[in-house]
Amino acid sequence: MTTPSTDCRLDGLTGLTPLSATTACPRPEAAYRQLRERWGQVAPVELESGIPAWLVMGYQEIRIVVRDELRFSRDSRHWRLLREGRIGPGSGLLPIMAPRDNAYFSDGAKHRRLRAPLYDGLAALGEQRTARLIRATCDRLIDRIPADGSIDLVASYAAQVPMLTVAALFGITPNLGERLQACVIALFGSGADAQALFGEMETILTGVISAHRAAPADDLTTAFLDHPGHHNDAEVLASMLLTLGAGWETTQVWIAQTLRTMLTDPRFDAQVRGGHLGIDDALDHVLWTDPPMANQPTRWATSDTVLAGRRIARGDALILGLAAANTDPRAGGQDRLDSANRAHLAFGVGLHACPAQRISRLIVRTAVETMLHRLPDMRLAVLAAAVPLHPSPWTRGPAHLPVTATRTRS
Ligand code: HEM
Repeated sequence: MTTPSTDCRLDGLTGLTPLSATTACPRPEAAYRQLRERWGQVAPVELESGIPAWLVMGYQEIRIVVRDELRFSRDSRHWRLLREGRIGPGSGLLPIMAPRDNAYFSDGAKHRRLRAPLYDGLAALGEQRTARLIRATCDRLIDRIPADGSIDLVASYAAQVPMLTVAALFGITPNLGERLQACVIALFGSGADAQALFGEMETILTGVISAHRAAPADDLTTAFLDHPGHHNDAEVLASMLLTLGAGWETTQVWIAQTLRTMLTDPRFDAQVRGGHLGIDDALDHVLWTDPPMANQPTRWATSDTVLAGRRIARGDALILGLAAANTDPRAGGQDRLDSANRAHLAFGVGLHACPAQRISRLIVRTAVETMLHRLPDMRLAVLAAAVPLHPSPWTRGPAHLPVTATRTRS
């Protein structure tokens, strides 16, 4: 093992490992191990051609970063490369890293104020009513699947459930929910129509806000409108966009990775179906082995500082290697076999930790259980090794899950 160099500056480094190499390879632990051997717990990686960032891979180092917002800010206006104009207008990084006026990109008192409606609104959702609503969405999607034949569980199910259920929690009708879903899918594709589609989402949600102002309802939109943390409708709109955006891909990947694990690992499948592994423990197993948000953007250094012996310059970007931290050898990660443990970092940790942990678990649990109930004989239609991965530097999950199955009645 080489001794990692600690005195390099991010700007001068070339030939770096692309971050997407960690999500694209069949065994990400091997990619993280190589990075650790060369650089230690904080490694320079390339986000896009010529755009470097630090990948923080240590379990403890991530906890240090997320708890110290004075040193490591969420506000991307600190990003030196953005200030220097080195991130082009067509960069795929902008949708996920450009500054926005919401809780996600805020620190301090502003963050706490804007996070409160998200946290309180999601926490107040009743378990049984929400579960019924999710179940109805899952059944509606499964009813569209051919009664006997082949389907892609990602496109027809995992990708649809999160947006449609979160939209329903906001009191958005299924038709408008499906339109929002189409907009988000196209937005993540970063096509030429991205601006227009974002505008369409804003128009739909502004209409939902006006309708709820006129006729309040027992749902998340009214909870957001009534919350003192929001000072005006523009902030409510920003929080709705954040909730719909933050919940979509992560929850989709969690559903898809759980179904993929069942379809490709007979022991796991038998334990879940046979009741030897409770569904929540099974879901946590997936969060340990395949956390949906493998590499979480972003924190920015507010001053020159040191982390794990490495010099971080003011304005450098830091990515949280959540998947890497789950296998951190110093934390005993490589020996961990027991999944009945929620100390993984899949939801983040600290001030910005995911406020939707209970609800997203309810969505995924209901989606997986409904699928097992309605398509009990589903079988993977390709070899396990042929399941393609969705190309993304941030999330790691199947792009498609082709199965054959017979649909039963709900
Ligand atoms: C209904 C589904 C979901 C919703 C509405 C949601 C919403 C959010 C929101 C609003 C934030 C920003 C909080 C803040 O900045 O204070 C966030 C952060 C986060 N969420 Fe979720 N989320 C959902 C599902 C998930 C799932 C399934 C995962 C992964 C298992 C996940 C992982 C994360 C992570 C890693 C962060 C960032 C932590 C950090 O940067 O420190 N989320 N989520």
